[in-house]
Amino acid sequence: MVWKNDQVSEGETLRIIETAKKCLRVPGDYVEFGCYKGDTSLILAELLVDNSVEKSAKKLWIYDSFEGLPEKRKEDESVLGENFKGGELYVTKREVKERFLRAGLPVPVIKKGWFSELTEEDLPEKIAFAFLDGDFYESIRDSLRLVAPRMAEGGIVVVHDYTNPALPGVKRAVEEYRNSANKGGSAELVLL
Ligand SMILES: C[S@@+](CC[C@H](N)C(=O)[O-])C[C@H]1O[C@@H](n2cnc3c(N)ncnc32)[C@H](O)[C@@H]1O
Repeated sequence: MVWKNDQVSEGETLRIIETAKKCLRVPGDYVEFGCYKGDTSLILAELLVDNSVEKSAKKLWIYDSFEGLPEKRKEDESVLGENFKGGELYVTKREVKERFLRAGLPVPVIKKGWFSELTEEDLPEKIAFAFLDGDFYESIRDSLRLVAPRMAEGGIVVVHDYTNPALPGVKRAVEEYRNSANKGGSAELVLL
């Protein structure tokens, strides 16, 4: 697949693919928190189709508010990140679903909602690979809290924007998680 993504660089996409491939033998499904238009979701869906083995077919679950970014908190403030605002990156669930249909790929489980409002029932029982791309402090904090207890042994969580100075809330949320006594799991983190 030729990819075009205005949110994730080509180098980062390659890291995501490489990491997602490592998790193909880990039990559990693949999830993406903050799918936006579905550019990375399409790549993950294709990877799963290309590598599916009848009985152990993995599902892809993707999550988004489909209302754009939430409002920023003080943890997210930075001069470099002024263009990231509540309501930006709006896309509808239907548009994302249609992209999968057009690409001839299986439509993932698509969940609409704020990460803070999702419950355990919205998640797969076991997760082999998670891509967290919610841009803001609360979004990363909440998605980490959701996926950590469900990560399978050997599973990997990729967090986007950890090194992005325009989005300082991401690093804050990850560091808080790493330093917390009650992580709810011990999955490997890959920080982009
Ligand atoms: C940078 S975009 C994701 C890009 C996508 N992962 C890709 O690779 O193309 C961030 C997305 O996260 C969603 N988002 C951010 N925080 C959220 C939250 N707390 N709850 C639900 N959706 C959220 C936004 O609506 C937006 O679509």
